[in-house]
Amino acid sequence: MTQSQIIGILGAGTMGNGIAHVCARSGFPVLLCDVAQPALDRGLNTIHKNLAREVAKAKLTQQQADAAYARITPTIDRQTLAPCRLVIEAATEKFEIKSALFRDLDRILAPEAILASNTSSISITRLAAVTQRPDQVIGMHFFNPVPVMKLVEIIRGLQTSQATFDTVQALSLQLDKIPVEVNDAAGFVSNRVLMPLINEAIYAVHEGVATPEAIDTIFREGMAHPMGPLTLADFIGLDVCLDIMRVLVDGLGDPKYRPCPLLVRMVDAGWLGRKSGKGFYTYTNV
Ligand code: CAA
Repeated sequence: MTQSQIIGILGAGTMGNGIAHVCARSGFPVLLCDVAQPALDRGLNTIHKNLAREVAKAKLTQQQADAAYARITPTIDRQTLAPCRLVIEAATEKFEIKSALFRDLDRILAPEAILASNTSSISITRLAAVTQRPDQVIGMHFFNPVPVMKLVEIIRGLQTSQATFDTVQALSLQLDKIPVEVNDAAGFVSNRVLMPLINEAIYAVHEGVATPEAIDTIFREGMAHPMGPLTLADFIGLDVCLDIMRVLVDGLGDPKYRPCPLLVRMVDAGWLGRKSGKGFYTYTNV
């Protein structure tokens, strides 16, 4: 893609604002769309704060940060996305929500536009099937915090064309990311491997094998993970972890992916991790 082509981002939450940040930082004009102004304001605030953090760390000059921020245009009108050559959807991780958005974007966008989803586990093939352009639908799975993590897992649906794949792979490199190609299967690769690790760590707490602190220390100090699995689960969101375990057990049909009952209970209680102030740990400044 050339830097005159507008990228649309649907959803200004944690992932959406991070994706807008990296697209704008790499010189692309961005339309950031969410359903309500307060959600957009929160997203823009976060981008502003994270750009300032990069200036403080001398990764960007103030001028570059200001220019990146100025490239982002917020909108609550989805119709505004019509001129976008590519839209990256980063809405709530529910098939019903994403498929309704894909149907709508398919109607709004020009026939040559690409529709990418930042889904962490929903089938790209199923999302593509609700559109009239299944060959131009693809997964573009970023990692949190998006401005920092290098990986983009690129997921080919059954009908994704080579041209779509090539465009998205090249764009990922333009965004200074490391693209890795995977095929469409429940959880792709990242969450098929990560979530059972997190789930097993939760079983270890559930069965009284060790405390969350002990488990996390083992992974930090023994395996050089930047965060232990329970800190990471709180960071990702326990509701998101539970949703992904359910996608794995449904999609792969193997009971080894059964979510730990403690994870289910914590989500039922509203203990969702960092964002709710309580998960395996307690957070005061949320
Ligand atoms: N924007 C910009 N920069 C940021 C940032 C943000 N949102 N968050 C952190 N940073 C920068 C910091 O400025 C810092 O920069 P320097 O290295 O230049 O100092 C660097 O990132 C490290 O941050 P901190 O020093 O504040 O804190 P830290 O060393 O504890 O690192 C972390 C924080 C990067 C989050 C690190 O703990 C980490 O890598 N954790 C694991 C994260 C992970 O596994 N993410 C994937 C989750 S799974 C997912 O997203 C997908 C899914 O489908 C569930």
